[in-house]
Amino acid sequence: ENTPTLFRPLKIRGVTLRNRICVSPMCHYSCAPSGPQTGVMTPLYLTTIGHYAFKGAALTMVEATGVCPTGRISVNCPGLYNDAQQHGLKAVADFVHAQGGLIGVQLSHAGRKSSTQAPWVAIRQQKSSARATLDHGGWPQDVVGPTGGQGFSWDGKSDEDPTGGYWTPREMSAAEIGGLIKDFAMAAKRAVEAGVDVIEIHASHGYLLHQFISPITNRRGDDFGGSFENRISVVVGIIKAVRAVIPNTMPLFVRISATDWMEETEIGKRLGSWKLDDTIRLALLLPDLGVDVLDVSSAGNCNEASYTVFNAGKQQAEMAGIVRRALAESGKRLLIGTVGEITRAKQAYDIVQDVSGGPQADLISVGRAFLRDPSWVMKVAEELGVDAAWPTQIARPQIVKLSP
Ligand code: FNR
Repeated sequence: ENTPTLFRPLKIRGVTLRNRICVSPMCHYSCAPSGPQTGVMTPLYLTTIGHYAFKGAALTMVEATGVCPTGRISVNCPGLYNDAQQHGLKAVADFVHAQGGLIGVQLSHAGRKSSTQAPWVAIRQQKSSARATLDHGGWPQDVVGPTGGQGFSWDGKSDEDPTGGYWTPREMSAAEIGGLIKDFAMAAKRAVEAGVDVIEIHASHGYLLHQFISPITNRRGDDFGGSFENRISVVVGIIKAVRAVIPNTMPLFVRISATDWMEETEIGKRLGSWKLDDTIRLALLLPDLGVDVLDVSSAGNCNEASYTVFNAGKQQAEMAGIVRRALAESGKRLLIGTVGEITRAKQAYDIVQDVSGGPQADLISVGRAFLRDPSWVMKVAEELGVDAAWPTQIARPQIVKLSP
């Protein structure tokens, strides 16, 4: 039949996405920074995430959610390490399910990029990030990374703020790494109890797991640093621990920065960096670990990188296509997602449609287009001539057309 792939259902384990359009995880920076409601999702999440589900998104991925108090990005970010936070997530999950949608949660530890204030504070201060002190509800003394010391300007290149607005991390001990793996598993268990449909492990954008896999930010001399196998061992350990506590029917996603975009820089040439070849090498291991989807993003680990999380959309789709082909050639089954600057119907259609050379991805994540227009799915459906599922409550002939 003629339905474009973009609007065909996709079954992953026991879960069926109604189309291939997911809402990319996006921080709200709106939880209480202290007190009993710390890191608890507020009713705001019902309106934002609920609206995406109401207006046809297949799966909404809840933003980076800290697996422990000091794993949150900002003091206003959600966590999933206590009962109040679990109940907050359950309220959002219940609401999404009532709209016929699916919800995932991105489990995260921010590592050296933790203990910040909301980005609008940084913007006011004309910095890339604003540190949160103890007074703000932050945890400067507990900011950790694979390697301690000055941020990521590892060669000591000093300017006024060599860490780019972050605290200087201290090196995680082996015992803390063991605790981290347990924290991810615990949070995954809570997510299952809260009723989410999908779990995503955040291994991208320069947060802790990305810091571990990249030789730029991981300079350890022990079993967690050095070789490719050592650097990926923490994320592999987390994948195994999470898979072991979630139902067999539940899809497991991993988001990765496919490259640090540091190959061309002096630091990258000297220290090495995470590259597309490494992503392919890791991707080939994921199906056997029980991962179902690899979401291909890029960047975020270094200020000096030639692209950011926000401006490499075309390249990310191309890299997703390369990873997808490598997997297909190996005979292993891993679904590939991609993200970045997807704003137009035809563009979304092309990424997942089986044209010559194969599609670039099996599903797409869309971020800012949804912030601008929560009915983005409906707009795309109309442009592609698809009779998409409008919410029952508003699917009346007199209002069903978006354009006059
Ligand atoms: C993001 N992004 C992001 N990514 C992620 O993996 N976890 C997160 O919590 C966040 N938070 C976040 C907040 C806000 C306000 C924005 C705009 C973005 C990145 C996002 O998921 C996506 O990868 C990029 O925005 C690129 O996609 P778009 O926006 O071009 O579709």
